[in-house]
Amino acid sequence: MCGIIGYSGQISVSTKPLEVCLQGLGRLEYRGYDSAGVALAAPGMEEVAWKKKAGRLSNLEESLKKNPLPGAQVAIGHTRWATNGVPSDVNAHPHISQDNKIALIHNGIIENAAALKFDLESEGYTFVSATDTEVAAKLLGKIANQIIEETGTPNLFEAVRRMARMLTGAFTILAVDVRQPDIVVGARHDSPLVVGLGDGESFLGSDVAAFVAYTKEALELGQDQAVQIQGGNVTVTDFDGNVATPKHFTVDWDASAAEKGGWPSFMDKEIHEDPEAVAQTLLGRFDLDGSLNLDEVHIDEEVFRSIDKIIVIACGTASYAGFVAKYAIEHWVRIPVEVELAHEFRYRDPILTPRTLVVAISQSGETMDTLMALRHAREQGSRVLAICNTQGSTIPREADAVLYTHAGPEIAVASTKAFVAQITAAYLLGLYLAQVKGTMYRDEIQDILRDLRAMPEKIQWVLDNQADTIHDAAQKLINAHSFLFLGRHVGYPVALEGALKLKEIAYTFTEGFAAGELKHGPIALVEEDEPVVVIVPSPRGRNILHDKIISNIQEVKARGAFTVAVAEEGDPDVEQYADVIFWRPQCPTLMSPLVDVVPLQLFAMDTAELKKLDVDKPRNLAKSVTVE
Ligand code: AGP
Repeated sequence: MCGIIGYSGQISVSTKPLEVCLQGLGRLEYRGYDSAGVALAAPGMEEVAWKKKAGRLSNLEESLKKNPLPGAQVAIGHTRWATNGVPSDVNAHPHISQDNKIALIHNGIIENAAALKFDLESEGYTFVSATDTEVAAKLLGKIANQIIEETGTPNLFEAVRRMARMLTGAFTILAVDVRQPDIVVGARHDSPLVVGLGDGESFLGSDVAAFVAYTKEALELGQDQAVQIQGGNVTVTDFDGNVATPKHFTVDWDASAAEKGGWPSFMDKEIHEDPEAVAQTLLGRFDLDGSLNLDEVHIDEEVFRSIDKIIVIACGTASYAGFVAKYAIEHWVRIPVEVELAHEFRYRDPILTPRTLVVAISQSGETMDTLMALRHAREQGSRVLAICNTQGSTIPREADAVLYTHAGPEIAVASTKAFVAQITAAYLLGLYLAQVKGTMYRDEIQDILRDLRAMPEKIQWVLDNQADTIHDAAQKLINAHSFLFLGRHVGYPVALEGALKLKEIAYTFTEGFAAGELKHGPIALVEEDEPVVVIVPSPRGRNILHDKIISNIQEVKARGAFTVAVAEEGDPDVEQYADVIFWRPQCPTLMSPLVDVVPLQLFAMDTAELKKLDVDKPRNLAKSVTVE
């Protein structure tokens, strides 16, 4: 959940290591922004140089302007989402060894920190913070000095490996030692770490956003691996010191994609990238004859043919994308699709067989709940396919196969373009299964692919034509203390997603539920002027659904609700009953989530902006939840 970065260059003393860290932390701040800090080492230093401040990165930058740090050859940087120890200067990273020779930063939770701290305190070590990370720093200092006593020379790489073997929990750790002022050492277990390969320089980061401004060539580190970077030299081993060969990859987006590019917020930019996210996810997945080709999904067709059940595991928005896909895949492939919240999945003792395909949907590829569910599924003998938006991240690395979405980096904590990209990718998977299992004719598949290809333009229509109506509605409803979101069929998960968006960035209490549930309890919540947002199915589809939703609107209207409808252009009924309508273009029922969600994304963003909240970094949240 925290952002970490490390840098080792060739020049023995310069400002570049600090510059690299600060720019990287700026790009990683979406992973956590309670506090930030840096540590530097250079030849001749007796103690590491460091600075850390609570609050946003700008606080640290202000402090560095007032009291600059010296030039350096290596540096590490950290931006924090607090797990233990409140956000404060003293709990910020880096943490320092007892003799001030080593600085350490950490992403994750060290579960045996208390026991380790007890042992260290009994040996006279002292602690100033309430963090598990300081325990690791003191322990590393102790081990490093033991190695010097044993061998006569410092070996931070070996010290980090020895410490890593002693820790339990989830951790990515970076460390520098003034006695080896040209190296940075890292180690990971259950938490992400990638390596950036520069010209005579190297980088370490929680994800490629840390260094993409400097290099797109990267290595993904596997579970229980340690790495030493020394200028342009990179050495990777396991925790026992056996040399490993990590997988190389090239980042497929550039630094500008991770910039706001003139937009007022990343969320605004990313909502407006919804069309491109769908288009890019479709790109390159068809043969010349138009048949689907998911070559990158390294699962044999025979295996796909044998699949008799799908279980989707995901959290939050990703789970709602899977919920939308459930309706489509069951319709096309005629096998059951269960959608499980990842954090519930492994505790319900799920029924998994080699013919069960588990689909792990994750934008970041680092959500610990989803990763642990993935591992459980694989231990039970099921194949796991990841649908992920972040190359080189842990979930696709540990899955049997991956179907990448190509939405580009999603920086805002609230997931928007990833949602439509995830639905698109899950639809491709469903159509591919229908193709290999023969449950649909080729022409039927082609028709649906054509519908999918037409969606970016329809999403664009909503962005171009409904922004003012949506903004006016946000203005009108700014003081509402709660909202209900209703939907049926594929509109139901869209209602859940719309409720989550408003909840997480406008801090408004909302509840999304199936419209059919209304009379089974929730209608008791409806009072005068209660805003009720309704996702209205097309009247051209299964119009029994449409008629029932219109009845639901009448029911809440009759009790004083203020109704906001998301409806298909030309719907003759909705205008009679809805106070506000967010129109969207006509499209097939199964395609409608891709356009229905867009007004809800914009509505949540407008509401948060009108409330003068930070839409990109909402309180208490982080972009990637890398702890269970
Ligand atoms: C969505 O707006 C939230 N930020 C959150 O629900 C998110 O979708 C969830 O944590 C899953 O993240 P992932 O897709 O990176 O696994």
